[in-house]
Amino acid sequence: MDGATVASLPLLDRRQGLAFLGGLALTGCATAGGIAPAGAAGPVPAAPGSLAATASARGRRFGSAVAWGRPGADRGSFANPAYAALLKRDCTLLVAENEMKWQALRPAADRYAFDRFDAIMAWSDASGMVMRGHNLLWHQDKWLPRWLFSHSFGTDPAAEGRRLIVDHIDTVCARYGTRIPSYDVVNEAVRPDDGGLYDTPLSRAIGSAEATIDLAFRTARAAAPQAELVYNDYMSWEPGNGAHRDGVLRLLRGFRERDVPVDALGIQSHLVTQSDAADGGAAALTDDWRRFVDAVVAMDYRLLITELDVRDNNLPADPAVRDRVVAGYARAYLDVMLAYPQLRDVLAWGMCDRYSWIEGFEARSDGAPRRPCPYDAQFRAKPLRDAINASLEAAAPLPA
Ligand code: XIL
Repeated sequence: MDGATVASLPLLDRRQGLAFLGGLALTGCATAGGIAPAGAAGPVPAAPGSLAATASARGRRFGSAVAWGRPGADRGSFANPAYAALLKRDCTLLVAENEMKWQALRPAADRYAFDRFDAIMAWSDASGMVMRGHNLLWHQDKWLPRWLFSHSFGTDPAAEGRRLIVDHIDTVCARYGTRIPSYDVVNEAVRPDDGGLYDTPLSRAIGSAEATIDLAFRTARAAAPQAELVYNDYMSWEPGNGAHRDGVLRLLRGFRERDVPVDALGIQSHLVTQSDAADGGAAALTDDWRRFVDAVVAMDYRLLITELDVRDNNLPADPAVRDRVVAGYARAYLDVMLAYPQLRDVLAWGMCDRYSWIEGFEARSDGAPRRPCPYDAQFRAKPLRDAINASLEAAAPLPA
């Protein structure tokens, strides 16, 4: 990382970049913004032998999604000791799986429900982890709360649309201050089939999807000036994602042309194996994918892997075979990604197969339970965990 690169980072990262240049290990930055909440333990070093420790030795960070749950409930929650142990074992970064989304946080136009996210945040602080914000606007009808569809936008719909967004982002960012150093400001705004932008009641009121998305970023920059602002989407390297990738590139280019404050692309990385080859068919995908990522970083965006998991498609039911190929596929993918010095953070979308969303999203056609995460349903480490560790270990240390 040279001086110019450091200067272009948001404040928090600039400090970290300078700390790194000074030879200090990066182990977390939960309170690097300076305001620690009462009772927070502050950043903890990554546990010895953890994925986070391997990442930290290379100037990177590793983390996972976490859900809310009642104490002891069998969920992928901080309040489930078995799941919490996996988080503490391997992570220094966290992201709430659902609890910061509009559907969870905003039960009515002018009412917020922070209890569940607050509980996750408090556990994160007490554990010395760094929390990512996911997300401030998931710009699709399907993921917005139902009240929005019967909301009265009044005589000046554009003003009311803007008010709803600004109120949301201001309220969330003010509540968490510097405790959240990175936000997925806008999530999945690009249509995968043709690369256009989704409309929602908000963009219809405001008059343009582009203006709506721009407003979200500009509002976030003003409300959380220290935070890294991320556009997050799932355009992936598998076949069939070309239009989605092109649409994301167009959006990212537009941000730069319109001077919209966006720091990074969040590459969700919900991966899908292609074949039973040792690398899951990854080799055939890398050239196109590198062209995409090269184009992103050429526009001066940083990168995050925000939601890593692997669907074991095109593979027999035998768990040993699936686990092996999934690991080979993820290894190949992470090796490509970690060659980019713009990539610091890698987050899994859940650590344990038992709680993964993938089963509900796309079950296997043969009914065999999915195995998308680093740990199996009995909390045992799988080859995928080894693969992540090996890729992190092989990554060039930052700065490149
Ligand atoms: C998913 C959650 O894991 C599910 O529990 C929920 O029902 C739907 O959302 N892309 C994203 C994440 O950005 O927020 C999604 O999370 C997975 C896909």
